Amino acid sequence: MNSIIDKTILFVKETLSGAEAGHDWFHIERVFLNAQHLNETEKGDELVVALAALLHDIADSKFNNGDEEIGPRIAGEFLNSLGLEPSLITHVQQIIKNLSYKASLGKINFHSKELDIVQDADRLDAIGAIGIARAFTYGGYKNRVLYDPEIAPNLHMSKEEYKNSSTPTINHFYEKLLKLKDLMKTESGKKIAAGRHDFMLLYLDHFYKEWQGKI
Ligand code: ADP
Ligand code: NI
Repeated sequence: MNSIIDKTILFVKETLSGAEAGHDWFHIERVFLNAQHLNETEKGDELVVALAALLHDIADSKFNNGDEEIGPRIAGEFLNSLGLEPSLITHVQQIIKNLSYKASLGKINFHSKELDIVQDADRLDAIGAIGIARAFTYGGYKNRVLYDPEIAPNLHMSKEEYKNSSTPTINHFYEKLLKLKDLMKTESGKKIAAGRHDFMLLYLDHFYKEWQGKI
């Protein structure tokens, strides 16, 4: 099992070299570690959890032109080249598909404990201290302002509006990041999310006070 994981790590590192900071190898490594941590309590299939975490963003950087099938396909070809069982490969592909499809499409009806674990692990990386760093990295990349007191967050954006919106980065906390805590599926993920959520609230509190020169 370790050699399978080692080979996968090498493949992912190589494939993601040059990826932008939000989805680089370090994001994958953090999701991999989060997923393994959750799995100590959740007791899903270790190999499926590890492979799905490592391969979940394989098509995010270079290949993806809106083609949602490409990630599962690249992952499937790679896992096939390692000679793994077809049922395991299909399971990993289903997990990747489910993570990459935005929930709003609602076309996929696949559920597994391992999907919940990897999805929670990915969501954990969008909140807390790391999540804050990733949001501002994204905002900087898109040349967005940090905050604008005149522009209120839009809590009910459609997928299209969300993609094209150019809201201040602070708004993204209300539009997405602060909602993630309640979307967690596993008990262990919920606990970690609660701590990271509170940290974001504390951060926002400081942010507004500093903005007004109060502290
Ligand atoms: P995921 O990897 O969870 O699918 P995305 O690809 O949507 O997430 O985003 C990658 C990172 O960029 C996440 O940390 C997310 O919070 C951040 N991000 C996405 N959209 C915005 C936005 N409009 N403003 C600030 N950060 C964003
Ligand atoms: Ni991810």
